[in-house]
Amino acid sequence: FFEKSLKGKTIITTASATREEIDPVRFISNYSSGKMGFALAQMAFNMGAESILISGPSNLETPFGVNRINVKTALEMLNALDTQIQKSKQDTYVIMAAAVSDFKPKQTSNYKIKRQNKDTFILELVQNPDISKTLKEKYPHIKLIGFAAETNDLIENAKAKIDKKGLEFIVLNDVSRKDIGFGSLNNEVTIIFKDGKIEHLPFMTKKEIAYNILKLL
Ligand code: PMT
Repeated sequence: FFEKSLKGKTIITTASATREEIDPVRFISNYSSGKMGFALAQMAFNMGAESILISGPSNLETPFGVNRINVKTALEMLNALDTQIQKSKQDTYVIMAAAVSDFKPKQTSNYKIKRQNKDTFILELVQNPDISKTLKEKYPHIKLIGFAAETNDLIENAKAKIDKKGLEFIVLNDVSRKDIGFGSLNNEVTIIFKDGKIEHLPFMTKKEIAYNILKLL
């Protein structure tokens, strides 16, 4: 039984890793499985919200009651978010749990790149837009929740992202640990609010973490 405390809200969650193609057989991506984002989308529905999940490639099953939109690249994710925010007639929350590729190849080759007669091969990358920052600038009324996947200087690095991206709070993940973070069933996170307040959620399942995050909305 879940209290329907999120009734009247649209919660758009992003999940999994984005993919940036180098050529038809290779891409740049990361280890995000989608588990954290899918847990949030499921729990948002259970708690009464209209729940929309925008996911990068993932084998996970679509949670019951959730409207899932599949995307591949960071740019597709940004466009899908833009469309859903425009459609929403209710209080709109965007939870950025996806691990978005900050860089993409400057050019995608239409053909498989062949081995070459030299030891080095230079792949030129360009930056993707910062999705959170772009959306907050275009739609100041939305409430944005960020995630941070960090390996070092955890609190400092995560804090810096709150203002830069226009977040209400950020959920800090220590992805240097093997028992939490990428791919695991469990997580342990530190939530840093825009006023500087800090709250720690101890080791628990990603579903329980999701519930505790959503209670804050
Ligand atoms: O999917 P799982 O296997 O369950 O793992 C969960 C997780 C560890 C991937 C997840 O909890 C997590 O930490 N997700 C965010 C990872 C990330 O991309 O962190 P970041 O520090 O690079 O980005 C900070 C925030 O900006 C994130 O909310 C990200 O979605 C957002 N972002 C990033 C890049 C970009 N171009 N635009 C963005 O808006």
